[in-house]
Amino acid sequence: MKIDQFNMNFPGEGDMALVFATDDAGAVIGTVFVKRAGVHVAEFARFFVREGERRRGVGRALINRAVEVAQKAGCSSISCAVHPENKRAILFYTRLGFMAAFHFGDGDILMTRPVAPAGGPS
Ligand SMILES: CC(C)(COP(=O)(O)OP(=O)(O)OC[C@H]1O[C@@H](n2cnc3c(N)ncnc32)[C@H](O)[C@@H]1OP(=O)(O)O)[C@@H](O)C(=O)NCCC(=O)NCCS
Repeated sequence: MKIDQFNMNFPGEGDMALVFATDDAGAVIGTVFVKRAGVHVAEFARFFVREGERRRGVGRALINRAVEVAQKAGCSSISCAVHPENKRAILFYTRLGFMAAFHFGDGDILMTRPVAPAGGPS
C-alpha cells in the first residue's frame, strides 16, 4: 500500500489536498479530501476505503497523512462530520484520538482532534 497526494489551491477556497491510497497494482483503494476550514482549522471529507481493503490500516494511513497536511498548513486541529449511525467510523475516529466536539442540528457529529505544531512532539 502506498499513500500519495495531489495538492490544489483554488482561488477563494484555500489549500486542499486529495490524499489517496493505492495497492501494489496502482489501483486506488482509499481517499480522503482535506482542506483548510479556518485560519488554524483543517477539515476532511470523502473519507473512504474500498470494501475488501478495510481493517488493514489503510484508513489510519490516510488520516495520518491528512494530519501531516494540516500540520504543514499550520492548523492546530482537524475535524470531520460523521453520521451518528456510522458506528464503524465513530469507533475508527475514537481509536485515532478524535473526540465528539459538537452535534449539528441535523444530527451529524463533529469529530475533532488536536494537531501538534510542525517540528514539535507528535
Ligand atoms: C471508516 C473507514 C474509512 C476505516 O478504514 P479502515 O481502513 O478499515 O481503518 P483501519 O484499518 O485503519 O482501522 C484503524 C482502527 O480503527 C478501528 N476500526 C476500524 N474499523 C472498525 C470497525 N469496523 N469496527 C471497530 N473498529 C474499527 C480499529 O481500532 C482499527 O484498528 P485495528 O484494526 O488494529 O483494530 C472504513 O470503514 C470505510 O471506508 N467506511 C465507509 C466510509 C465511511 O464511513 N467513511 C467515514 C465517513 S465520516
